[in-house]
Amino acid sequence: MRCVALEPPRNRSPEMALSSFLNMARKDVDIPKNAPQALMRGLHSDYIQKYESKKESFDYVSADYLRMSGVYWCLTAMDLMGDLNRMTKDDVVRFVKDCQKSSGGFGAAENHDAHLLYTLSAVQIALTYDFVEELDVNAIVRYVQSRQNEDGSFGGDRYNEFDTRFTLCALATLHLLGRLDEVDVDMAIDFVLRCHNPDGGFGTRPGSESHAGQVYCCLGTLAVTGRLSMIDEERTAEWLAQRQCAESGGLNGRPDKLPDVCYSWWVLASLAILRRLDWIDRDAMVKFILACQDDETGGFADRPGDVADPFHTVFGLAGLSLLQYPNLEPVNPVFCMRKSALKRLEL
Ligand code: FPP
Ligand code: ZN
Repeated sequence: MRCVALEPPRNRSPEMALSSFLNMARKDVDIPKNAPQALMRGLHSDYIQKYESKKESFDYVSADYLRMSGVYWCLTAMDLMGDLNRMTKDDVVRFVKDCQKSSGGFGAAENHDAHLLYTLSAVQIALTYDFVEELDVNAIVRYVQSRQNEDGSFGGDRYNEFDTRFTLCALATLHLLGRLDEVDVDMAIDFVLRCHNPDGGFGTRPGSESHAGQVYCCLGTLAVTGRLSMIDEERTAEWLAQRQCAESGGLNGRPDKLPDVCYSWWVLASLAILRRLDWIDRDAMVKFILACQDDETGGFADRPGDVADPFHTVFGLAGLSLLQYPNLEPVNPVFCMRKSALKRLEL
């Protein structure tokens, strides 16, 4: 399965198709000799600015169902590059306000239902641009409360699909608003710990396979609630360190999967939360992330040679920031936001 991304259909040459087949068989990818080896900041900044300004393009229109998160990815990518001033703040503020529903939650776009994922993105955007007080915060808190189930889990929306992703969305939203005590935190943690597996990882629900995206969500939840000491942190860090692929240096999300640049974020941020970022080979990791840049269009793709999109662009940049690549703003590993944007919350 490919990532939640904004990928147009691909036209693959026979050579690319063969390389892709070989990669699937050995579960790693080749880094082409001519792959980029330095960060092309200016090109990425232009790519994001153009993406956000071409509101009639197919890519933009077809991503309506995840727009709120898309705006958060684009703003955060720009913020980490120190180029937030290239975005149009007034348009963003109006868009976010128009997406708050009567339930208090936010939809992905104006005519979409509220969902915890887009509610977190809306609050992250409001903090980045410092307009939280212009939102109905009490209504947001009531919405998050309403999504908690009796077993402590959170359903993402009114259809109540529950998953550890939505636990992080709920608790991170409340933490960013300084209102964490308004849900049953003990029950939420009880659910997260029931999703913890003997291999050290976490899954979507009790008994589900360990997955690096879910590990990030569960560690983020344990971190914001001050409960990291409830798990064996070393065992989880070992599972995370094993995600690095031997040849490419990239990280995968589960054993026997191909590396993907977004896992540079899910895995590295998890290791950063556990204060064990030095458990991976930094130089090999940096080389892989840089190789995923598109040196023509700008932006990062999931793997070298694939089509770039804003999702992999923000997580590629954020991964590089965690690895202290020069001239990027420091990023907070739980919220994937510029650290200084969270300063006044003392996070
Ligand atoms: C992999 O998804 C990633 C995850 C499961 C993590 C998703 C995390 C959130 C929704 C919380 C986001 C919050 C912040 C602060 C960034 P995938 O569908 O790409 O998985 P696959 O690689 O197995 O296809
Ligand atoms: Zn990905």
